[in-house]
Amino acid sequence: MNINFTSDIEKNYDAIILGVYENSKLSKLTENFEKKLGGIISKTIKNSKFKGNVGDVVDIFSEKIILVGLGKEAELDDIVLHKIGGIIGSHVTKEKKENVLLMLDNFADEKNFAIIYGAMLKTYRFDKYKTVDDEKKTEILFNVYSQNPKKSKDDFSDVSAVIDGVITTRDLANEPSNVLSTTALAKEAKKLSKLGIKVEVIDAKELEKMGANLILAVGAGSKNPPYIVVMKYTGNKKSKNTVALVGKGLCFDSGGISLKPSRGMDEMKSDMTGAATVIGIMESIAKRNMNINVTGVIGLAENMPDGASYKPGDIVKSLSGKTVEVLDTDAEGRLVLADCLTYTVRNIKPKFVMDFATLTGAVMVALGEETTGIFSNDEKLVDMVKTASQKTGEDVWQLPLGKKFADMIKSDIADVKNLGAPERYAGSITAAEFLKVFVEGTPWIHFDIAGTAWVNKENDIAPKGMSGVCVALINKLFENL
Ligand code: BES
Ligand code: MN
Ligand code: ZN
Repeated sequence: MNINFTSDIEKNYDAIILGVYENSKLSKLTENFEKKLGGIISKTIKNSKFKGNVGDVVDIFSEKIILVGLGKEAELDDIVLHKIGGIIGSHVTKEKKENVLLMLDNFADEKNFAIIYGAMLKTYRFDKYKTVDDEKKTEILFNVYSQNPKKSKDDFSDVSAVIDGVITTRDLANEPSNVLSTTALAKEAKKLSKLGIKVEVIDAKELEKMGANLILAVGAGSKNPPYIVVMKYTGNKKSKNTVALVGKGLCFDSGGISLKPSRGMDEMKSDMTGAATVIGIMESIAKRNMNINVTGVIGLAENMPDGASYKPGDIVKSLSGKTVEVLDTDAEGRLVLADCLTYTVRNIKPKFVMDFATLTGAVMVALGEETTGIFSNDEKLVDMVKTASQKTGEDVWQLPLGKKFADMIKSDIADVKNLGAPERYAGSITAAEFLKVFVEGTPWIHFDIAGTAWVNKENDIAPKGMSGVCVALINKLFENL
């Protein structure tokens, strides 16, 4: 979908998209057309099912006009606008309209931008591996009416940058692991240098020198070597303060020696979504020239069974110096993140750190597939996330931490173990407690996106596949800083 802002309503479009509020109340712009066309719009919809509710859409006037329901005018917030945008995107794609004009109402630019956001993200397709053309989607030129197209285009760049970030995250997370190896993903991160981000790739040899033995242990069974990649964006050169984003980047998680069952194992190609999320956020904020400093740290590894793999019962010394008893090689994400968090809090010294990880199946048992689990040692951070979440519609729910959970990961023979006891109880919380050990008091919030990274059934703003969750949320949070 290509976006163009225009004040030209006379051109020959495949269709013009007009808005109608609830109870079939025509918008002001639609009213103008109504007059030009001699009352045809009201007449056509009078006895139809189209009432102007959100979700209503109908082609009239030999398909030259698409009427779209806007619902209650007072309720048109970003979340509703995204949904309407998604409905419009789906409709014009299905009807193969290649050149349309959006004229819902005399909206301020921001409302149109939210519509575009929904339309672009909803019509996203990961179809690069489809070789048959008619399975590919048609490219749509989405013209958006504006009285000042130049200004609208300029002002759109912020929203456009968020869309780009979400799409990058989805694209990376959708790639299979035979294409997107750890090395390939490190290369993808490197591409951010085009946007003025400093990217440093720490390879296995250096990880060894540093003593990042947890990430090395997780990657030991794979021919694809582990990396920690550090991405530095300096949008405020005057300040020494930075915030940090940490991401789990398991290009594939077979479970290792604690091998997962075959059924559904394919989904573990997207166990690097946390890392993809960090890359997507870095891309957006750089494109927006945001006036902040942000460091992204991603831990890349592949968890495979092999003669060289780490094994249940192993005791590994982490980068922090703390020893970890490995009871399950499938609880690998927390190990990779632990070394990344140590690196971050000791070398970057951020004001706060946020981590993103497809960490536990248990978070889906607790919260389902549409709510991200959040865990934190800092209630201010939690409030900031909740505020942003209400604006973007990406639901979050805080789960507790505390001594009784921390006690569950105490090891008999090492400092901590990577499995709670009893092992499945409070599984997401014990995983978060494990991470907390390594943030060493830095204000921290952990996003367990195991449920929300993936869209099982298309939703308002995404088709089935990877969601790109948290990219817009963190953009919003940074706007509020
Ligand atoms: N990557 C998985 C978590 C996961 C499961 C993400 C399903 C998305 C969908 C993680 O590495 C894992 O295997 N976690 C284990 C932890 C257990 C061994 C303590 C889990 O959740 O079963
Ligand atoms: Mn695992
Ligand atoms: Zn995993």
